[in-house]
Amino acid sequence: MNDMKEIIEEIKARCDIASVIGDYIKIQPSGQNYKALCPFHVEKTPSFHISTAKQVYKCFGCGEGGDVINFVMKMENLDFMDAVRMLATRCGIDINFNIDEDTKRKIELSKKYQDIHTEAARYYFANLLQTKNRGYEYLKNRGLDDRTIKKFGLGYSPDSWSSLMDYLMNEKGYSREELLECGLIGKSTKTDKYYDKFRNRVMFPIFDYRGNVIGFGGRVLDDSLPKYLNSPDTLIFNKRHNLYGLNFARKNLSSRTVILVEGYMDLISLYQYGIQIAVATLGTALTSQQAHLIKRYADNVIISYDSDGPGIKASLRAIDILVEAGLSVKVLNLKDSKDPDEYVRKYGTDEYKKAMRDAVPRIKFKIDNLKDSFDLSRDGDNIKFAKEAVNIIKQLKSPVEIDYYIKYLSGIVQLDEDAVKREIYGKSYNSKISSNKKFNRYTQDEKPNIEKMDAIQHGEELTEIMLIKIMMNIPAAREKILLKIDENEFLMEESKKITRYLSKVDSEKVVDSSELADIDEKYIESLKKVSLDSIDTKNLKEIEETVKSVKRNSLKNKINNLRRKQSELEEKRKNLDNNEKELLKELDVEIMNIALQAVDLNKRLRNL
Ligand code: GTP
Ligand code: MN
Repeated sequence: MNDMKEIIEEIKARCDIASVIGDYIKIQPSGQNYKALCPFHVEKTPSFHISTAKQVYKCFGCGEGGDVINFVMKMENLDFMDAVRMLATRCGIDINFNIDEDTKRKIELSKKYQDIHTEAARYYFANLLQTKNRGYEYLKNRGLDDRTIKKFGLGYSPDSWSSLMDYLMNEKGYSREELLECGLIGKSTKTDKYYDKFRNRVMFPIFDYRGNVIGFGGRVLDDSLPKYLNSPDTLIFNKRHNLYGLNFARKNLSSRTVILVEGYMDLISLYQYGIQIAVATLGTALTSQQAHLIKRYADNVIISYDSDGPGIKASLRAIDILVEAGLSVKVLNLKDSKDPDEYVRKYGTDEYKKAMRDAVPRIKFKIDNLKDSFDLSRDGDNIKFAKEAVNIIKQLKSPVEIDYYIKYLSGIVQLDEDAVKREIYGKSYNSKISSNKKFNRYTQDEKPNIEKMDAIQHGEELTEIMLIKIMMNIPAAREKILLKIDENEFLMEESKKITRYLSKVDSEKVVDSSELADIDEKYIESLKKVSLDSIDTKNLKEIEETVKSVKRNSLKNKINNLRRKQSELEEKRKNLDNNEKELLKELDVEIMNIALQAVDLNKRLRNL
C-alpha cells in the first residue's frame, strides 16, 4: 500500500487542482484562489471555491468538496483507482509498474468489504427500529434518544444463529467467504457450521475518519461477560490505527482541542449532551498511530478516562504517548463519577464543560498521582517522593514551567526550593545566584497560592514577563531579543508598551521597574516576582527558546482567534436564508480567507 500512498501524494503534488478543474469549467481568479459556478449543482452566482494553498475545492452552495482526485471521480464518474490512473497519465507519472496486481485486488476488496459492513449496519439498524426488541429498550434505558441512535447508526443483532448471514447472502449476494473475512460470521470447529458472530447485542458500527463503516462493537444487554464483542482486525479495520467518533469530532475541532475517552457509551453520551469533540480508543491502550491521527486535527488533548485505578493507569500511559506526538495534554477530573457517561448524565453539560476548563495539566496530574502513593508524613517517604517528582519535572523543557513546578513541589514536600533545584539542575547549581536580592526572589509570605494557579494559562503570561525581565536586566541580551521579536508578538498590552520603551533606551542601560510609566500595578508586581533562576541568561540558546515560546504563544493565540471568528461566521451562515445570496457569497469569501490565514499561521507555527 505504501507505493499507492506515494503515488497519490505525487499526483496531488504534480496535478495543480486549479489547472485540472480549469480544464472542465471556467474558473475566475479571486486573490490567490479561484472561484467558479459549481458544476455539481445549478447556480447563478459562483459559490464553488478552489484553494490553491490547500489544493482543495469546496462548494458552499451544495457542500461538495475534496481534493483533485475527488473532483475527477465526481466529474468523470470514475471510481477511485480509475481517477488516479487518469490523473497519473495527465501529469506523466507511470503507475503501471508501481501497482501490482495484489495491491489492485486489495483496493477493490476493501471497497467491497466496506459495502458489506454498510449493509450489515443498515440491517442491524432496521432491526432495532422495526421490531420490538430488547436492544432498543436497552438503549432507551441508558438514556439515549432516537436522534442519537440514528446519528450513530446503533442497531440490534437478533438472537439468532444466522439471520445476518442469510440476509447478506440471499438478499445481497455476498459470499460466505467474504462474510468470514469481514469477521461477521464464524465457523464452528466441531460441526463445521457457520454462524453469526453478533447475537442478541446492541450494535455500535465503527466508522473510519471519513465515516465509512469498517467494523462493529456489540454489547450484551445484561451483566454477562464478555461485555463487548468487537470485530477482529480485517483488511479494512485495524484497532490500533482507528479512533471511534473521529468522523464526527473532526468537524468540530476548530479549537484544536479533543477529548479522549475510553468507551462507546462515553463518547455517545457526551455527544448527546452537546459535547461533540470526543474520540474513543475502545478499550485498547492508546497507540502512537492514534496519537498521530489526533495530531492531524488537534494540538490539545483532554483525557477523560474512567476514574478508577485502571483508568488512571491508562491515563498515565496515554499522556506519554500523546506528548511524544507533540500534543499538549490535560486530564479531566470526574469527581465521584466512574466515567464521563455517568458524569454528564448526573451533572449536565455545563458542569462537564467546567470540568474541561479545570482539567489538570499533565505534569501536575503525574505529581499529584505520585503523591497519593506515598505517606508524606513519614520523613523517608517525603524525600523519596520528591526525588521521583523531580524526575517528572525534568521532562519539561520550558524554564518557566520548570520553575512553576519547582515551587509547586517544594510547597507539597515543605522542602527548600533550592534543594529541589539542586536535584533538577545537578550539584553545580549555585544557590548564590538564586539568593541575589536584586532579582527578587519570593519571600516566604509573598509566595503565591500555587494550588490556585493554572500552570498553562499562567505559563504563557509568565513566559512573556520573564522575557521582558531579561530585556530589562541584561542589556546585551536585550539587543539580540529585540532583533528577533516584534512588540505585537506579545499577548499582554503591558508587555508591548514596555518593549516599545526598551527599544528606545540606551543600549547599555539596566532598566528598573520604577522607571516604567503607565504600567498596571499587577504587572509590575509579577515582574518583580518572576525569577530568572531557572534560566542561564548567558546562554543564548536558552534565551532563544524563551523568545520562541513567546512567538509560539502569540501565533497560537492568533490562530485561536481566527478559528473562533470562522466558527462565528459559519454559524451565521447556517442561519442565513437561502434567498440572501449576496450576503452568503460575501460570507463564503470571508470564511475562506480566514481559513487560509489560519493555515498560513499554522505553517509558521510548525516552522518555528
Ligand atoms: P458501558 O459499560 O456499556 O457503559 O460501556 P463503556 O463504553 O462505558 O465501556 P467500558 O468503559 O467498560 O470499556 C471501554 C471500552 O472498552 C468499551 O467501549 C469497549 O470498546 C471496550 N471493552 C469493554 N469491555 C470489553 C470486553 O469485554 N471485550 C472487548 N473486546 N472490549 C471491551
Ligand atoms: Mn460506561
